[in-house]
Amino acid sequence: MPAAKRRRASLRSPRCLTRERSAIWKSGAWLRAGICWEVGGGGGSIATWLARRVGPTGRVFVTDIDPRFLETLKEPSLDVRRHNVVSDPLPEETFDLIHARLVLVHLPHWQKVLQRLISVLKPGGWLLDEEFDSDSVPPEPVASPGEVFLKTHAAMAQLMRDRGFDRHYGRLLFGRFRALGLTEVGAEARMFMMQSGSAGTALLRANYEQLHEALIDSGYVTEPEFQDDLSRLDDSSFMMPSSIMWTAWGRRVST
Ligand SMILES: C[S@@+](CC[C@H](N)C(=O)[O-])C[C@H]1O[C@@H](n2cnc3c(N)ncnc32)[C@H](O)[C@@H]1O
Repeated sequence: MPAAKRRRASLRSPRCLTRERSAIWKSGAWLRAGICWEVGGGGGSIATWLARRVGPTGRVFVTDIDPRFLETLKEPSLDVRRHNVVSDPLPEETFDLIHARLVLVHLPHWQKVLQRLISVLKPGGWLLDEEFDSDSVPPEPVASPGEVFLKTHAAMAQLMRDRGFDRHYGRLLFGRFRALGLTEVGAEARMFMMQSGSAGTALLRANYEQLHEALIDSGYVTEPEFQDDLSRLDDSSFMMPSSIMWTAWGRRVST
């Protein structure tokens, strides 16, 4: 599959998570939000979801360092911009809701980024972040027969640690939101079992393929082991628990 198509597919795959969106995210508090900022919008599934719910006077700014997949979106209340959330000047607007999913974990200086986002929340505005904790509940083939822990997966985990990623990131959001002075802070998490042909497995495959060269160069997995693991993703018996997706929210103090 060409690289751009594969990247697009990987950005769309987390839609399975969108469908499982948590009760708090579905609740009226978010839907009443007027001016929203979707940070690192990727394929645009969440920005579109938001744009259909903000009502006729609402607006959704959706930004990404690489907005090529966002530029085809048609919702009238969407405003697409190329923007690096780490280094570009902040938007002049202030927001009722700022949402990000699977973006902050990849960024250096995440603390600075969280502070930047909070600084453009309206008083009383909500910050909502969804990030994986990939380490707390690994597959357990002994406790749960049939679950596999692919060597490629373990190699990817080690490579991410080597590169300075905090693989518990999602779990830490609650404490970080509190430490940053947000109020009404809450968090909840969800997992699912990945199986062949599912969106979760498609995302896994896209991640492995994206890191293919680096994984082999790292020496944590060999080429035959990598290829063997890729084919196991298509096996009808394949089962592996997903990472834990944490959703954390908090509100800027009203003045
Ligand atoms: C794993 S994807 C998640 C996409 C989307 N949020 C979702 O959950 O479907 C991460 C996204 O963050 C974007 N991104 C990475 N670094 C960024 C930065 N510094 N500023 C803005 N966007 C960034 C990437 O281009 C990519 O679209």
